[in-house]
Amino acid sequence: MYSKKVLEHFTRPHNQGVIKKADGVGIVGNPTCGDLMKIYIRVKKDKTKGEVINDIKFETLGCASAIATSSMITDLAKGRTLHEAMKISRDDVADALEGLPPIKMHCSNLAADGLHAAIKDYKNKK
Ligand code: FES
Repeated sequence: MYSKKVLEHFTRPHNQGVIKKADGVGIVGNPTCGDLMKIYIRVKKDKTKGEVINDIKFETLGCASAIATSSMITDLAKGRTLHEAMKISRDDVADALEGLPPIKMHCSNLAADGLHAAIKDYKNKK
């Protein structure tokens, strides 16, 4: 049912944890299943690139695919500019995980929304 990549990220998630005094925090959830995802970002100003996601972590209470999408979004977003990170879509996350079971596409694929919410939170705080 799950791809090899989903299982890899579920069993050994990347960048799991909290960033204390994060520059931006995004919180998203699925009220139907009760899954909850928190994405923390640290932003650094780079002379040539502009504002870059220097560090990113997640805390997720949820199913295997919610954890896998959270882990994958941290890999996809780290080192990207805020502009690039805003363009990472739900489909990009699912593709990078070699697909998600169809029933999970809408249910658990919340990580891109969480990232975008964290970036918006950062911008609102500025
Ligand atoms: Fe995990 Fe729905 S069961 S998000």
